[in-house]
Amino acid sequence: MRHLMSPLDFTVEELDKLFDLANDIENNMEKYSKKCEGKKLATCFYEPSTRTRLSFEAAMLNLGGSVIGFSDAGSSSASKGESVSDTIRVISCFADICAMRHHKEGAPMVAAEKSSIPVINAGDGGHQHPTQTLTDLLTIRSLKGRLGNFTIGLCGDLKFGRTVHSLINALIRYPNIHFIFISPQELRVPDYITEMLKEQNIPYEEVIRLEDIMPRLDFLYMTRVQRERFFNEEDYVRLKDFYILNKEKMALAKKDMLVLHPLPRVNEISVEVDDDPRAAYFKQVQYGVYVRMALILTLLGMENL
Ligand code: NCD
Repeated sequence: MRHLMSPLDFTVEELDKLFDLANDIENNMEKYSKKCEGKKLATCFYEPSTRTRLSFEAAMLNLGGSVIGFSDAGSSSASKGESVSDTIRVISCFADICAMRHHKEGAPMVAAEKSSIPVINAGDGGHQHPTQTLTDLLTIRSLKGRLGNFTIGLCGDLKFGRTVHSLINALIRYPNIHFIFISPQELRVPDYITEMLKEQNIPYEEVIRLEDIMPRLDFLYMTRVQRERFFNEEDYVRLKDFYILNKEKMALAKKDMLVLHPLPRVNEISVEVDDDPRAAYFKQVQYGVYVRMALILTLLGMENL
């Protein structure tokens, strides 16, 4: 039995197979509409989420399966003091696969150890968000036709943004990727990540101004300042509008650069950018459903059926 805790749980070859399956799903939805009949997905969300949870639910429903679960810790037995280990043992009796989001880093790993069904980490604190990374990689591969040989700018809250941490981890396995980290000093990417890049001789730059590096980017990955992970409101208010991507900044970019964002967006991308053909963040949401369908099939061992 397999779980998904980190994007690195799959080899590059396994990811390629997963993305091929996701693209086949994209082009032949009907073919997959009954694959998971009789199967249940449990969504155990201890932390708020709309798109990730609904994306998982839509994925399972598209496969003909059904969904049970809870969408905040208050409505689960966690509010009575139940541990994640106990919860997953119980859920294992009800469902065939579980997607878990938790505010505590590592909680889905603890659950996976005690689980008799596959567990998917749907985001653990500021740590990892592997299914968002699968979404990002599938979007890049589908829209650019390749994974590798590009310059990517990651902009915004690089300190607390788990999507960024997961994505960097996953991208370093592909050839010739140049990272440019764009953040205020206070929200720099954690040292453990820059240490890892140095150790592996992977080129990266850290800058504060977005305008200066716009012309060099093939991808710009924008992120929200993660209010819920700040220790005080004043710092959040000071930093929240540090970057706002608008038409003027887009005018500096390459004609075929793509803008990605895990969403939800707050102010960091002005709505006027939405109509720019280079804005790919809503397409990205759609790829998220295809890749979760492929993932559910793969973890249930049904990818070749
Ligand atoms: C992200 C998350 O939850 O980390 N959202 C998502 O899953 N699409 C990004 C965010 O909340 O900023």
